[in-house]
Amino acid sequence: MSDQHAQKQAAAKAALRYIEDDMILGVGTGSTVNCLIELLPSLRLTGAVASSQVTEDKLRALGIEIVDLNFAGTLDVYIDGADEVNADLQLIKGGGGALTREKIVAAASNKFVCMVDDSKMVEFLGREFPVPIEVLPQARSYVARQLAQLGGEPVYRENFVTDYGNVILDTYDLDVSNPLALEQQLNNIVGVVCNGVFAANQADILLKAGSNGVKKIMR
Ligand code: A5P
Repeated sequence: MSDQHAQKQAAAKAALRYIEDDMILGVGTGSTVNCLIELLPSLRLTGAVASSQVTEDKLRALGIEIVDLNFAGTLDVYIDGADEVNADLQLIKGGGGALTREKIVAAASNKFVCMVDDSKMVEFLGREFPVPIEVLPQARSYVARQLAQLGGEPVYRENFVTDYGNVILDTYDLDVSNPLALEQQLNNIVGVVCNGVFAANQADILLKAGSNGVKKIMR
């Protein structure tokens, strides 16, 4: 087992303290969340709102009731990973392509608990990891041109379709120095469904796992 995997497991274990009996839990997507999902059968959840089909399938396989967000109301807690995190707990997400559903569930939750290993911490978002942008298929070329005008270099994620039937443009070289402004600017491009900058819906609590254990950082 790699150190990084052990750190993901430690972060997932630390997240358990935010889960209460009889809760409907918002559950994210990715390898860190998978460590959490393994721990859920021992809890007494009422159910879970899943942030992707992959997560939904994993939860179902463990006998956890899947709840439609439209019938769940506001969730107390959403737990997910991230691809990059800055000191203000703003994030880039969507490496697994689930950004839209993830952002919806995060927005519909009172508390977003983000679990990462040390490698995800960055001083500036978007310098290394591209911003994933979910786009309606017909608008792909138009949106790519708009992104290029913003200084971005969009790369079409080949052989990938989102849960909503859309495509992803992984966009390098965008100026993410003001994450909230960029998030809004990207949302304003016609044809963009959602973008992977989580600034309006940043994490409330970060569980950062490193070689010396898990550190909790609050906003
Ligand atoms: C899924 O679309 C992403 O937003 C994930 O939350 C993110 O990529 C983190 O995944 P890992 O836990 O696998 O690093």
